[in-house]
Amino acid sequence: MINIAVLGYGTIGSGVVEIVEKNQSILQKETRQSVEVKYILDIREFPGSPIEDKLVHDFGVIVNDPDVQVVVETMGGLEPAYTYAKAALMAGKAYVTSNKELVAKYGAKLLTLAKEKDTNFLFEASVGGGIPIIRPLNRCLTGDAIEEISGILNGTTNYILTQMTEEGWTFEDALKDAQAKGYAEFHPEADIEGHDARRKIAILGSLAVGRQIDFEDVYTEGITKITPEDISYAKALQCKIKLLGTYKQVGEDYYAMVTPKLVPLSQPLSGVSGVYNSIYVKGNMVGDVMFYGQGAGKLPTASAVVADVIDASTHLDRYIGPAWDEEKLILSDLSHFEQRVFVRMKDTVDSKKVQEIFGHITPVKADVAGEYAFVTDATKEKEMKEKLDMFEELIGYIRMA
Ligand code: HSE
Repeated sequence: MINIAVLGYGTIGSGVVEIVEKNQSILQKETRQSVEVKYILDIREFPGSPIEDKLVHDFGVIVNDPDVQVVVETMGGLEPAYTYAKAALMAGKAYVTSNKELVAKYGAKLLTLAKEKDTNFLFEASVGGGIPIIRPLNRCLTGDAIEEISGILNGTTNYILTQMTEEGWTFEDALKDAQAKGYAEFHPEADIEGHDARRKIAILGSLAVGRQIDFEDVYTEGITKITPEDISYAKALQCKIKLLGTYKQVGEDYYAMVTPKLVPLSQPLSGVSGVYNSIYVKGNMVGDVMFYGQGAGKLPTASAVVADVIDASTHLDRYIGPAWDEEKLILSDLSHFEQRVFVRMKDTVDSKKVQEIFGHITPVKADVAGEYAFVTDATKEKEMKEKLDMFEELIGYIRMA
């Protein structure tokens, strides 16, 4: 029998307990034994609940119980998760987590420890919720050099942008609704300022290159400045505004960023609506691969956790993790990155000056009064910012995907 302990009985933790019960016959078939939740660790009491007899408040009970083979952590945050992860791995137990903060910061370190102890540190649910993306990167696309990963990695912001586009909702109303539905982080700034997506692209990029990309190095902008006028221009441009996390290798340069982008309707990522996430991967041999599914929510995320529990249970004494070294990858300065940009200026701007500074541009017409809007040709980020700085009439800009 496999005994698991679940740390944190919140949305995802309770989903894990539910799936282990409901899909017990599947778990038994996959692992060839029964999988039981022996302990649930939480600071709260749950009087009268069916989980009451499994509830513990002391992690020591779990880490010192030799019958627990797999520890599942769904608490989020760096501490005490990091301390628990180290202790569990040191004790030779497999550690499965949905905690992207933990994985982005200490993933490489914890994988090294798991390898030393012939056990596993698995984190499928940390990126893309229920979408299989970590395992495909680790086990399926391993014969390829990964040249690019671009994804809608945050369900809350995608939901907000979708509601603003399709229903004409304000940013604030859409955010409140996302919070009520349980998609948003406890502190919604993590979603709307792009920090959640930043950690996720750092994890995916690290797996792609096999080295540590520090999430703090990833250039990040959120969606708080996106306005209904931007949405009108996006429609005029036959585009959707999406918050994209991007990792890209260009020759010897490695770039990573999270920014809102105008994605043409002809690109599949534009069709990803609501809380759904999608990730595009480009391998040097396989070409283009797409992943799509629910990136947040109780059962989709718990489903990915349970898949890891099965994987951990069937590889109790054998490391199956990725080649993600602790050696840091220095990302290239984004100022050299080349892209087209959509620009909004007050219509008092001298259009001849715009053309002189930007060279060839494509004007954009939308139902917005008092403005002059256009798309530039591909320009390096640094050059583009220097040019934009020359105009006090500048209202805003969005990069094109
Ligand atoms: N707040 C996150 C999101 C949850 O909206 O995608 C899943 O990581």
